[in-house]
Amino acid sequence: MREDGIFKWMVFQKSDEFRLCFCLRPVDLRCMNILLLGSGGREHALAWKLRQSPLCKELLIAPGNPGTAQCGVNLDFAATDFEAVRATCIEKNIGLLVIGPEEPLVKGLVDFLRGVPGLQALPIIGPAKEAAQLEGSKAYAKAFMERHNIPTAGYREFTRDNLEEGLAYVRNHALPVVLKADGLAAGKGVLICQSNEEAERELRAMIGDGKFGAASARVVVEEFLDGIELSVFVLTDGKDYVLLPEAKDYKRIGEGDTGLNTGGMGAVSPVPFADAAFMEQVRTRIIEPTVRGFEAEALDYKGFVFFGLIKVGDKPLVIEYNCRLGDPETEVVLPRIEGDLAAALLATAQGRLSEINLNSDPRAAATIMAVSGGYPGDYAKGFAISGLQMTPTTGADSLLFQAGTVEMEGQTVTAGGRVLCVTALGETMGAAVEKARERMEGIGFEGMYYRRDIGYEFENPHPLTPSP
Ligand code: AMP
Ligand code: GLY
Repeated sequence: MREDGIFKWMVFQKSDEFRLCFCLRPVDLRCMNILLLGSGGREHALAWKLRQSPLCKELLIAPGNPGTAQCGVNLDFAATDFEAVRATCIEKNIGLLVIGPEEPLVKGLVDFLRGVPGLQALPIIGPAKEAAQLEGSKAYAKAFMERHNIPTAGYREFTRDNLEEGLAYVRNHALPVVLKADGLAAGKGVLICQSNEEAERELRAMIGDGKFGAASARVVVEEFLDGIELSVFVLTDGKDYVLLPEAKDYKRIGEGDTGLNTGGMGAVSPVPFADAAFMEQVRTRIIEPTVRGFEAEALDYKGFVFFGLIKVGDKPLVIEYNCRLGDPETEVVLPRIEGDLAAALLATAQGRLSEINLNSDPRAAATIMAVSGGYPGDYAKGFAISGLQMTPTTGADSLLFQAGTVEMEGQTVTAGGRVLCVTALGETMGAAVEKARERMEGIGFEGMYYRRDIGYEFENPHPLTPSP
């Protein structure tokens, strides 16, 4: 970027300084190379959106997938390879680093890069290690919510030191009772126990026998909340925030929300029950106290906050914080964001989010995830995927995001449980789901499975509620 800028400066200086100011600043001087970390459907959606920005010169993705390779250049290192991230930021003159998954954040990638000469001021999307504990430690998140009076389920925490007290506590707890491994446990660390005996047994297994390794050395025991869940996202620079479209994901493998939990089988946005009155409560009782909490505690938080919420009666409560975007929520949230995401992320990372306004597309979006046969249990990989090209009937309002895929001998083949997803936009949620399903029918691989009922509980076709 700087080279182009200097070149044009020399050319224009002789001819037209006025033009220099107007042409050079927005077009060239702020044009930057972007490094995106991660490899899932979320990162394909981020890559697709970032690529559309006039600010994006070169887009690099590490490690990416065959889908992200259509938007930029994949680099062959893991998102947790701090040294490779450092070297790439320097060698490629990165102007914006976007950290997709939580693991590098919780492990302290931001703090590491801040200590590297030349990278102290690198614009980064993702919180520093301390703030990332909001996702990395359930106990940290609960204590933060308590300090800032943010509504959440009542809780106690236990370790080996007070295990006996914990066992007595769950023995007398109202049912169901929720046990949460404190640390990251690949989405498996939450148990909802239907009997006190089960809760005692599981608490002992988690703390005493390391059921989830070090992640369950500390366990949060909390009351069960009965309600409907949704995911709310904001971009924050630690002082201001911008609300993004909300979404609802479908975690169970089976239609009608039955069977085992998965990483997410689909999502819809907007969420019909998140009406204006509800979202106002979300803003005033949850989002604003959270952002004020960041400010009051001087937490270095520049990035996405994902509020895992539950609506109990007409009240929102926080089930969890995540310090990243959700997957597959991102695949419906980003297609509904109008405007330049790279500009918004740069402003966020530079602490000038107050300059940014992002509008949302009033249409509904639905995404359906295709998974490998057997997932979330054991499954085979390496099957060729057909139908990845756009079919003429689907038009520009359906998008395909790849997740667990790799390129092998010129073929895109399955490489994970969640393989790919199709997002469609429509005037109604029903129309969006229908379009996504139609598009999915043109895709195939051995053992492929997807839920045909995404958005089922919202009438089909559902009239849209206005978006915030
Ligand atoms: P978490 O990892 O905290 O998001 O928990 C995973 C899932 O467990 C959530 O999406 C909820 O479906 C469920 N869950 C967690 N905490 C509670 C709770 N206190 N009451 C009811 N369900 C919960
Ligand atoms: N879809 C939930 C998550 O990304 O954690």
